[in-house]
Amino acid sequence: MAKNPDTERSNRHCFVAAKTGGGKSQLMRNELIPKTGIRALFWDVDTDHKCTRFSDRGAFLRALKSADASGKPFRIGWSGEDNPETFEWFCRAAWAVLDGSRETWIVCEEMADLGMGQKMPDFFRKLMVRGRKYGAIVITTTQRCQEVPKALITQPANRYIGLHEDQDARYLERATGLKAAEIEALKPLTFWHKGPEGTQKISTKYRKFTP
Ligand SMILES: Nc1ncnc2c1ncn2[C@@H]1O[C@H](COP(=O)(O)OP(=O)(O)O)[C@@H](O)[C@H]1O
Ligand SMILES: [Mg+2]
Repeated sequence: MAKNPDTERSNRHCFVAAKTGGGKSQLMRNELIPKTGIRALFWDVDTDHKCTRFSDRGAFLRALKSADASGKPFRIGWSGEDNPETFEWFCRAAWAVLDGSRETWIVCEEMADLGMGQKMPDFFRKLMVRGRKYGAIVITTTQRCQEVPKALITQPANRYIGLHEDQDARYLERATGLKAAEIEALKPLTFWHKGPEGTQKISTKYRKFTP
């Protein structure tokens, strides 16, 4: 169970969207997720992140329990079965280690593949809606923005919108207020960042990554 709620914690959730090859994983690795010193869980079915990955539920839960009990930073990833039921199990495991006295990063890649439509699974909703005061920083990505719940696009404090084709760009204009033409005009590895301090264009440099 999540423990030690701290209502002063701010919303630090992030949403990252771009068509495939737009640079979502590069942006997260290079700019958004600290490289060391964090407690982090990764839904990493395409092995895009630096973490110790598991594909066996028992092994994953044992590693998470012992990492959490150690009080030290950890980076634990799931790269096993990629289906809605397993994602809900992953979110439940994340919820169980949340502790409002410290941050826990929860990185969830390629959300459209989970077929949620507009309905957020229960524990995922908890992470998104109630996780803030328990130190959760949830980062989600998708390359198909119309196939994830709209709340994923509208609720996070930070939205990073990269290159999209016309229909998706128009949908994102309605959801974020960014101009569709300015979304379509982006180059790979370049994003509009809409956050608490306003909107700016940011870019990242390609760096080779070996899982
Ligand atoms: N060898 C390379 N040299 C320079 N840029 C590259 C190279 N390989 C890939 N890229 C850039 O990285 C992008 C892929 O980034 P990635 O974060 O994996 O995209 P996404 O996660 O959005 O699918 C490519 O579209 C390209 O712009
Ligand atoms: Mg990627």
